[in-house]
Amino acid sequence: MTHTQAWQELKEHHRQISTKHMRDLFSQDPQRFERLSLSFEDLLFDYSKNRITDHTLRLLYALAGQCGLEDKIGRMFAGERINCTEQRPALHVALRNRSSRPIHVDGEDIMPRVHAVLDQMRAFVDKVHSGAWRGFTGEPICDVVNIGIGGSDLGPRMAVQALTPYHKPGMKVHFVSNIDPADLADTLAVLRPETTLFLIASKTFGTQETLANAHGARDWFLQAAGETEHVARHFVALSTNSERVRDFGIDPANMFPFWDWVGGRYSLWSAIGLSIALAAGMDRFEELLAGGHAMDEHFRNAPLDRNLPVIMGLLGIWYVNFFGAATQAIVPYAQHLQRLPAYLQQADMESNGKATTCDGRAVCCDTGPVVWGEPGTNGQHAFFQLLHQGTRLIPVDFLVPMHSHYAPGEHHHILLANCLAQCEALMRGRTDAEARIQMEAQGLDQADIFRLVPHRVFPGNRPSNLLMFDKLTPRILGILIALYEHKIYVQGTLWGINSFDQWGVELGKQLAGTILTELQEGGALSEHDASTAGLIRHARRNL
Ligand code: F6P
Repeated sequence: MTHTQAWQELKEHHRQISTKHMRDLFSQDPQRFERLSLSFEDLLFDYSKNRITDHTLRLLYALAGQCGLEDKIGRMFAGERINCTEQRPALHVALRNRSSRPIHVDGEDIMPRVHAVLDQMRAFVDKVHSGAWRGFTGEPICDVVNIGIGGSDLGPRMAVQALTPYHKPGMKVHFVSNIDPADLADTLAVLRPETTLFLIASKTFGTQETLANAHGARDWFLQAAGETEHVARHFVALSTNSERVRDFGIDPANMFPFWDWVGGRYSLWSAIGLSIALAAGMDRFEELLAGGHAMDEHFRNAPLDRNLPVIMGLLGIWYVNFFGAATQAIVPYAQHLQRLPAYLQQADMESNGKATTCDGRAVCCDTGPVVWGEPGTNGQHAFFQLLHQGTRLIPVDFLVPMHSHYAPGEHHHILLANCLAQCEALMRGRTDAEARIQMEAQGLDQADIFRLVPHRVFPGNRPSNLLMFDKLTPRILGILIALYEHKIYVQGTLWGINSFDQWGVELGKQLAGTILTELQEGGALSEHDASTAGLIRHARRNL
């Protein structure tokens, strides 16, 4: 990317535009909002409050073109092995392919397999909801515990919470991910083994935390149930690895499979989404898939300059690579999207937190930003001070529904007003003169005004995107998640990295294995630095 003509031109253009204020860009162009916003179904994407002009966009689209983005998008949908280090396709789009279009892997159309698992999920979910699936005492299931971590937890956990208004009455879904025993213990404390179903969610079925928690849950269950034959009514597996599932003691008939061409952090659309379907019903889960598919079709077909994920991805590159932005804030003005920032942290940072290109060379520019955030309005009373007056440029994505599922009226209007006000404040800021006028109106004397002006000035010119939609439904949730997934792919493609592997999580796991043995078995320590060795000895003395 850095060798393209467009990159060089963007560098020069950045020098010119970096002194321009968005206030002026708005006042010079009354049509700026109309020109720099796009609709997709009931989603309105406003990107007019970015530090861009038409020329910036032209250069960014040229950059995408010179990096072969359209070809790379086609390669993903065609099932090519774009996960170059693991030699796999990345076909989460197949999981939500609602068209009759076949998708091939090694010459096989994988769609019949995808549909078979969806049918299996529907049959199971219906049985649990109707009470036909019962626990070992004959009571129906009313609590479901998803045990998984990373992509086998964050996506389903976020989606289950997002779809709270759609939850089936009498069905509660819980999540256990952390190896800290507090997580499992707190969850089990409020449950009855007779009416609890455990979903052991692990792509590999080899993840230490998940297996330890699954064993803990089974021990707890067997203390009440006694006979291991009852495990079959209370434990199902969501995995790609049937051998390990069998070794754990789960009947492969109770396994919901998926495949190695589904990345962990892209897996909520697969059998890993069973907790979502159990919480809200299979029809709702399929609406989620349909939303994802609608965004896929848009991403595949829309021209670059009308393509939401492409525009979002390019704007992110503009800030990371030209303005030096190190982080990206995600602020949903929707309580039920509380877990969205945590979900996007893995989706984005595990995908694009890389410094080596697909062909093994070091990248020559920054790649994925730190992704973080909290729902509004809570965030306003926590970190917004820094967004407005801190020394760093932090682009923000705001998300807000127009309507609430809950009582209409004031609460939601206040929420919406705050969201729009924050976007405006970040963009406009407050000038010295405006700060003075306000303080004069408040009756402050001139000495106080003089003293306070520097503190009450806001520089503004801080960029944000706004994603506004009608209501938080399964379909719009699917659209939003797929939008972010594709944005991440756009950026990974331009940076020339592989967004679908995660070698960076391996080393720590490996070292933890060695240290665990040393903590538990004593004996001579293997080679560690002085700090780690000292800490292990300290822990041994105090364990
Ligand atoms: O440690 C990272 C990771 O490999 C993620 O990519 C994945 O989502 C998570 O662990 C869980 O893996 P699994 O589903 O195989 O248990």
